[in-house]
Amino acid sequence: PCRSYSIDRRPPKPPPFAFAFDIDGVLLHVAKPIPGATQALQYLQKHNIPFILLTNGGGKHETERVADLSSRLGVPLTTDNFVQSHTPFRELVHGSLGDIDIDVKGLKDKNILVTGSDASKCRRIAEQYGFRHVITPADILAAHPDVWPFEPLMKEVYAATARPLPDSNPKIDAIFVFNDPRDWALDIQIILDLLQSKEGVLGTYSPKNGRADLEGHGWQADGQPPLYFSNPDLLWSAAYHLPRFGQGAFQAALAGVWHEVTGGKAPLKRTVIGKPHARTYAFAERVLNAHRAAVLGKDEKEIHPLRNVYMVGDNPASDIRGANEYESPLGTKWTSVLVRTGVWDPERGGEPAYEPKAIVGDVRGAVAWALEREG
Ligand code: G3P
Ligand code: MG
Repeated sequence: PCRSYSIDRRPPKPPPFAFAFDIDGVLLHVAKPIPGATQALQYLQKHNIPFILLTNGGGKHETERVADLSSRLGVPLTTDNFVQSHTPFRELVHGSLGDIDIDVKGLKDKNILVTGSDASKCRRIAEQYGFRHVITPADILAAHPDVWPFEPLMKEVYAATARPLPDSNPKIDAIFVFNDPRDWALDIQIILDLLQSKEGVLGTYSPKNGRADLEGHGWQADGQPPLYFSNPDLLWSAAYHLPRFGQGAFQAALAGVWHEVTGGKAPLKRTVIGKPHARTYAFAERVLNAHRAAVLGKDEKEIHPLRNVYMVGDNPASDIRGANEYESPLGTKWTSVLVRTGVWDPERGGEPAYEPKAIVGDVRGAVAWALEREG
């Protein structure tokens, strides 16, 4: 049962707690604000209670998306308290991403393949992050039209956005899915070509890649480029009344073709970030703490770590699970709050697969519940 709380309570001095808000299904349904979202954010800003927006969405540069969100929600927002699915990829320009990719010494000057909903827009985002040699499927299709034997789905888009390849068959050092691809067929073809290539060189083939059954018998696979996904969401809450497939569905399709192509002999090697993965929560916590210090006008070292972060989400598999499982190095407790305005619907899915600390009607109820709890 969701009690109706009032948020017309003035909190005490700047509190040792903050909020993290998911976007789709909590604040917006695609472009349409969810009732109570504006009021909840305005209240927190008025009372100097820090929050960040933490979304598995992407496809626009942070500055563009934040400007769009500010105008839709009628709340001034900045990139200081905003983390999208691919935002952490910035760290791979100069180094590794948290606990993984230790063999990656920065991809700034390497050739990377980037795909996503508008791959040319994702290329520009990657370039704004600092990657200097970004290739898209359109570039490969333009240079090698036979790479795809059928009439390309988005022929005009590809022709309009393709750039010349650095050389006819470049070596690709990493593959990134920035957000939800639209042409799954071409993207899966090209990504699988590269995963089965010799050291990422376009147009080559290695019978060894994916042969984990041969590993350990003096056999060495040819290097395949690392594959990064920004968002594991199988489903998300859009404008339709039922959840829609997210980037996780694309990932599953690609993994399914890999399984068939390799005869099931090797799991698809991949790195997935985004909620619920700890590396995204750790990245978000760093962003939140820097933002909180700025809001309080203090140096981070001068203020006590947050005691609580209330993670308000609509998807048990990403928002709730991630907050429940994240172990902050600062001892901050991430407390999950599930709203009824998004992916999760008890009539359809029964109890949430990951148990939240509280279930409330909407984001306004989540803020009121947390304030009530903080006293
Ligand atoms: O593509 C966006 C979708 O995966 C979910 O986004 O804001 O609910 O994390 P969000
Ligand atoms: Mg959501």
